[in-house]
Amino acid sequence: MQYMREFKLRGRRVLIREDFNVPLRDGGIGDDARIRAALPTVRTALAAGARVILVSHLGRPKEGEFDPTLSLAPVAAALATALGQPVPLVRDWSQGVDVGEGELVLLENIRFEPGEKKNAEPLARRLAGLCELYVNDAFATAHRAEASTHGVAKYASRVCAGPLLEAEVNALRQAIAAPARPLVAIVGGAKVSTKLTVLDALIEKVDTLIVGGGIANTFLKAAGKPVGNSLCEDTLVPEAARLLAKHTDRIPLPVDVVCAKEFKADAPASIKRVGAIDPDDLILDVGPETVRMFQKILATAGTIVWNGPVGVFEFEQFGSGTAHLSRAIAASPAFTLAGGGDTLAAIAKYGVGDQISYISTGGGAFLEFLEGKELPAVAILEERARAQPGDVHPSEGY
Ligand code: 3PG
Repeated sequence: MQYMREFKLRGRRVLIREDFNVPLRDGGIGDDARIRAALPTVRTALAAGARVILVSHLGRPKEGEFDPTLSLAPVAAALATALGQPVPLVRDWSQGVDVGEGELVLLENIRFEPGEKKNAEPLARRLAGLCELYVNDAFATAHRAEASTHGVAKYASRVCAGPLLEAEVNALRQAIAAPARPLVAIVGGAKVSTKLTVLDALIEKVDTLIVGGGIANTFLKAAGKPVGNSLCEDTLVPEAARLLAKHTDRIPLPVDVVCAKEFKADAPASIKRVGAIDPDDLILDVGPETVRMFQKILATAGTIVWNGPVGVFEFEQFGSGTAHLSRAIAASPAFTLAGGGDTLAAIAKYGVGDQISYISTGGGAFLEFLEGKELPAVAILEERARAQPGDVHPSEGY
């Protein structure tokens, strides 16, 4: 890849793809980690006198429709506060964008535009037409081949990776090239279907795979345990059963869990053995004995890769598992890598950010990278760099 530091930015229209897909809460930003991670790139471009046009998606809106609940307006406001300068949110950029040197604008949620998800050429060309340099800094969306992450990089006159994308790719490459063993992965969270296939490849690389959240429920069901009304992807139970049968020793399942009858912050919680779940129970966290079992595994790890909480940590009485695990990861002498929106929120909540070796902004991208998959947004930057070697000299940067 070529990097932003290799390009002259002064006076140039620079389109920077960031991932501002932040968790939302009560109409505002639930966790601003991805915004904070992007700030150094934006500051660098502004200080260099670029005309900065930021582009990002937020959530999964229906294309072609404006959805006010998924507007990037809260992100524009947060950026304006952090940067101390106005950040106009541009909803209609069909006639181009007006932006001065050292100034910036943010395009409205790119997934409102028809063609973004399908990587449609007309949208990719329109985006490319906005800029003289396209900078992809959105590692967290690098596993998506969409118009703003992939197509635009085919048509923009110059393309490169931003400092955040560069740092993420370098850190993850280093960590997985020769990990200190044992390598333990913790994969939790609610996005069961998107993660089960990733687990398939990950299990071949790790020494121990700790599963949590909805994923653990799917595995428990595959192991013949009742899961009541818990989040569980029935169609994926056979796949989980196959993984379990092949790698029983490497997938330690919860032995006790914290349950409730309702998914509510104040729902009464009770600790149960995994075999004793009632049909109307919801599993919302791992139990104390499971936590002790996982703590022992983490204490002797050489490398820990963490993606996804093991319980509904947003609700106090279902946060104990994630709290204890995050502290165990922080206390471990292992090289620790964490990624994912919810994971970042948990790290912030339990104040362990300083004790994690590397925190990635990626969720799905982080996992796919570890899985060894090619990230299309990175691949296209590499392809363009090969096709146009020496487009600028490294010493000419900024
Ligand atoms: C993420 O949060 O993993 C990225 O922003 C990609 O979002 P998506 O899964 O909706 O494509």
